[in-house]
Amino acid sequence: MSDDRPEQNIDALLAEDRTFPPSDEFKRDALVTDTDLYDEAARDDEAFWATQAAELVHWDREWDTILDWQLPYAKWFVGGQLNASYNCLDRHVEAGNGDKVALHWEGEPGDTRKITYTELCTEVQRFSNALKALGVAKGDVVNIYLPMIPEAAVAMLACARIGAPHSVVFGGFSSQSLADRIIDAKAKVLITADGGYRRGEVFPLKPAADEAVAASDTIEHVVVVRRSENDVEMVDGRDHWYHELIEAADPECPPEPMDSEDLLFLLYTSGTTGKPKGIMHSTGGYMTQTTFTHKYVFDLHPDTDVYWCTADVGWVTGHSYIVYGPMSNGATQVMYEGVPNHPGNDRFWDIVEKYKVTILYTAPTAIRTFMKWGPEEPAKHDLSSLRLLGTVGEPINPEAWMWYHTHIGGERCPIVDTWWQTETGAIMISPLPGATTTKPGSATFPIPGVSGEIIDDEGRTVDQGGGYLTLTRPWPAMTRGIWGDPERFVETYWARFPDRYFAGDGARVDSDGYFWVMGRIDDVMNVSGHRISTSEVESALVSHPAVAEAAVVGANDPMTGQAIIAYVITRGTAQVEVKVLREHVATQIGSIAKPKTIYFTPDLPKTRSGKIMRRLLRDVAEGRNLGDTTTLADASVVDELAKRASEAPAEE
Ligand code: WTA
Repeated sequence: MSDDRPEQNIDALLAEDRTFPPSDEFKRDALVTDTDLYDEAARDDEAFWATQAAELVHWDREWDTILDWQLPYAKWFVGGQLNASYNCLDRHVEAGNGDKVALHWEGEPGDTRKITYTELCTEVQRFSNALKALGVAKGDVVNIYLPMIPEAAVAMLACARIGAPHSVVFGGFSSQSLADRIIDAKAKVLITADGGYRRGEVFPLKPAADEAVAASDTIEHVVVVRRSENDVEMVDGRDHWYHELIEAADPECPPEPMDSEDLLFLLYTSGTTGKPKGIMHSTGGYMTQTTFTHKYVFDLHPDTDVYWCTADVGWVTGHSYIVYGPMSNGATQVMYEGVPNHPGNDRFWDIVEKYKVTILYTAPTAIRTFMKWGPEEPAKHDLSSLRLLGTVGEPINPEAWMWYHTHIGGERCPIVDTWWQTETGAIMISPLPGATTTKPGSATFPIPGVSGEIIDDEGRTVDQGGGYLTLTRPWPAMTRGIWGDPERFVETYWARFPDRYFAGDGARVDSDGYFWVMGRIDDVMNVSGHRISTSEVESALVSHPAVAEAAVVGANDPMTGQAIIAYVITRGTAQVEVKVLREHVATQIGSIAKPKTIYFTPDLPKTRSGKIMRRLLRDVAEGRNLGDTTTLADASVVDELAKRASEAPAEE
């Protein structure tokens, strides 16, 4: 503690105690202002979710059993039948809301498209028929590798309509990552585009898609959306233009009634080992919880709100809070293709002003970037339409929360800090904005119907202080497992503590019972809100011929939350440039996985049993004094590393 700036310490203490109750103005029209939903759920969580399922979702056949819980496998609304695409489209058209705008789409170059629910419903039906004509049947996996264009939502909903589970792969992933996912899922059809726009330039997707298809042997057909009009090679008989298929297809395709537990989609996410996990989500429970949370956490007023989630459809946030949740609620939303700084650093604020966005859902990493660009960027625009803000993906630092509150929310918008995971499928811990008093940096409390608990090493409940974040009761949108790997499912989430789900996050509970999620405690890094496993990056580095061994850690980073730091031992006398290795990782996994800094080292700190001491590597990377090194096989290795780290500043 320093004595020279005592006011700093006082500030910090005050900041921790700051509380923000919902304003009377916000409460006046809010859907929830009291504890009724919490009380109802606490009395009987199964009955609570059944009420929500019946109220918020259209069922073709009612369920027989609300919950069949055989730890770790839950089945919700067993015997019930529904179709996710019918829920997201047809029912709004049938209710007379067909002319309502579903998507205000904005391309990065500034081109726009306005798509109503009727138009979206017709396009989805045409594409469903096109997929059927290509031989896609119920149960077949379809891979989607697209930029942020409306066709991404169309493709997902068309799959859902005919009962073909989709597996969306983020457009920024490399051909290798796409191939791995196609192979694991045994996908039959791939839907991609010529390219998309990013930072003012066309990024081609089709060549990467071609490489991935060549590296796998299950893809029979490739559908190509024309977006950026770059030259692409089309393989006769295998490749088809999306617009030609749509033109030729019948505009009517009745939705396939699906069992509640039928697979809706697979989404691959990083785990602690190199191989990504295909997280499975089924239909009824997922639709119930995404619809519920999108309505109540975002206090959605579907007739007046304009909602904008800035995530990419390639991540779970895009699945649950661009496609399924908002569309099931019949929301009007904005979808944007590009980066926040093209053509200027105020692009987001330009979009908020242009479409009069009322609800904005984004990530802490973006907020920290906006802080860096300065409050003058949002100040150029009229943001008075905004009434609610949300964040997701990583812990939000209190100062970023305050900046968001002040410079974006004009001190009038509640902020919902939402904690959840690819595996949980939908929001789990979050304020309800008209009912919860928020604290900057805290996701507050589990939502109604969700039972979260922080426990210590021995599995005892922590009433105040730090521990592991766990979930004690099944919830409707929970993952139904890892595709093709039931053992790994049990091992990863259900083995650390008996009878409960372990999320892999550390968290703290304060004297008022507020949850503060601190971040991952395993070997998964959180870089700009994206999960990347240390071992995946290590494997990518070691696959370069000049590399003998690599250790990767996530170090705290003011902009990206965590930054990827790699320690590399080269083979014999081999030499390789940092730049080359970073590019190599980009080719293997994707640009998001490029290490920020690479240190070459003759050796790595290991225990006597040969385990790499990551804690020490993190200490070195974060410039901390090294603690106990007595368990090391060779303590001099760390001194050498620390010396190198202090001599060689981070290489960008
Ligand atoms: C982190 C994203 C703190 C956490 C929806 C979790 C958060 C991982 C928050 C899941 C939050 C997400 N506060 N940490 N509000 N939201 N996380 O699967 O470490 O991409 O385990 O899902 O992100 O990341 P995933």
